[in-house]
Amino acid sequence: MFIRDQVIAWLSENVSDHRLQHILGVEQMSIQLAKQHGIDPHKAGVAGLMHDLAKFFPPTQLLQMAQEEGLEIDPICQTNPHLLHADVSAIVAREEFGIKDEEILTAIKNHTLGSPAMCPLSCILFVADALEPNRGNTPELELMRQVSWENLYKSVRQTCDFSLKYLLNTHKTIHPRTILTRNWALETTRNLAK
Ligand SMILES: [Fe+2]
Ligand SMILES: [Fe+2]
Repeated sequence: MFIRDQVIAWLSENVSDHRLQHILGVEQMSIQLAKQHGIDPHKAGVAGLMHDLAKFFPPTQLLQMAQEEGLEIDPICQTNPHLLHADVSAIVAREEFGIKDEEILTAIKNHTLGSPAMCPLSCILFVADALEPNRGNTPELELMRQVSWENLYKSVRQTCDFSLKYLLNTHKTIHPRTILTRNWALETTRNLAK
């Protein structure tokens, strides 16, 4: 519990109150989804608590930290450095809080764009980030929450679709990895149904 208090103290200095509520919502939903789907709930809680550590880092800092880490920064991330907050949050989790578990670090990295063939822990964080209670209670979100308890891969596909619809409607840049993640989740769902 000690590290959790430390992380929350750090977050209250580095993110808004609104974001902290979202983060705690993701933590709780990740733990519950992990229990439901037979994944380690402790790992899920740590990933949830640390997924948005770099959410409020300025673009220059995100780019600089990603560069120093030796990450390949594609043109879309170069013009939208905010997308790098996932990768950079994993760096902060490792450097600031000593997280060494690769599965946790990878889940943090994957929480915004997903990744084809991502592991169940990554899937859980990916959907919890979109579906935690503070995201609202529209009928569409309620239905998606229902699916997240029943079928994790279908939930990933729905979360990608939800995000893609939002990006289309608001004329925002779509990162191709969201589409790759969506197609992978769709195929996985189909294969499991066979
Ligand atoms: Fe995020
Ligand atoms: Fe988030």
